[in-house]
Amino acid sequence: MTNEHESVETPNPESQEGRFAEGLQYPDPSLRDGSIALRRWEHGDLPLVEEASTDRLLLEGTTLPGEYNSRAGREFIERQWSRHAEGTGLSLAITSDGDAVGCATLIVRRPSTADLGYWLVERARGGGTGGRAVQLLVEWALRQPGIDAVEAFVADENVPSQKLLEHVGFERHGRQRHQVNNLDEDLRVYRRGKA
Ligand SMILES: CC(C)(COP(=O)(O)OP(=O)(O)OC[C@H]1O[C@@H](n2cnc3c(N)ncnc32)[C@H](O)[C@@H]1OP(=O)(O)O)[C@@H](O)C(=O)NCCC(=O)NCCS
Repeated sequence: MTNEHESVETPNPESQEGRFAEGLQYPDPSLRDGSIALRRWEHGDLPLVEEASTDRLLLEGTTLPGEYNSRAGREFIERQWSRHAEGTGLSLAITSDGDAVGCATLIVRRPSTADLGYWLVERARGGGTGGRAVQLLVEWALRQPGIDAVEAFVADENVPSQKLLEHVGFERHGRQRHQVNNLDEDLRVYRRGKA
């Protein structure tokens, strides 16, 4: 499971992560589709981080704190900001009617390709929120100079995520091994390129 690709590591000693994302700035105007929006993380998102940290499913593939406290929560939010500050990509909070309910990330590890990650807290799942948020972010990403494709990596058993990606125009693109923390998984690769 890889929910949030800020934490995904492929063992590549010559990794040039970050060298390709210098132009990736926060979307301006910010991304919105009716009640769904994507915005920069805020200190006020600590309750979302705390809620997400209680979900074992989300802990597996992210850097969410395993044992929440406000310091660990702030550090999580600072890690999200650091993606933009360090030029490695972007992490955005997903909101529904202004309520922060999840996370969507784009990390640029290779020339021209952004790796996508996303998660929603459990109460926000099942209503298509993730699909709308991912569609907004991916369509924006594919309009950015230097980004020709977006890829996502999904476990075989994660049917909701596979359906989400297929609904927003991704296609199967083989498999790839991912090592994250103590996880070592062979994942489906989904890819969407410029139209
Ligand atoms: C993946 C995720 C963001 C999708 O959330 P969402 O946008 O609310 O999507 P939904 O729950 O509405 O479901 C998406 C599709 O999967 C289907 N689905 C949901 N649960 C399912 C299940 N257990 N079995 C089969 N299909 C399922 C839904 O019916 C929907 O398909 P449809 O639009 O054709 O009806 C959310 O499930 C999540 O946060 N999961 C945990 C984190 C995660 O897995 N992130 C992605 C890692 S690659």
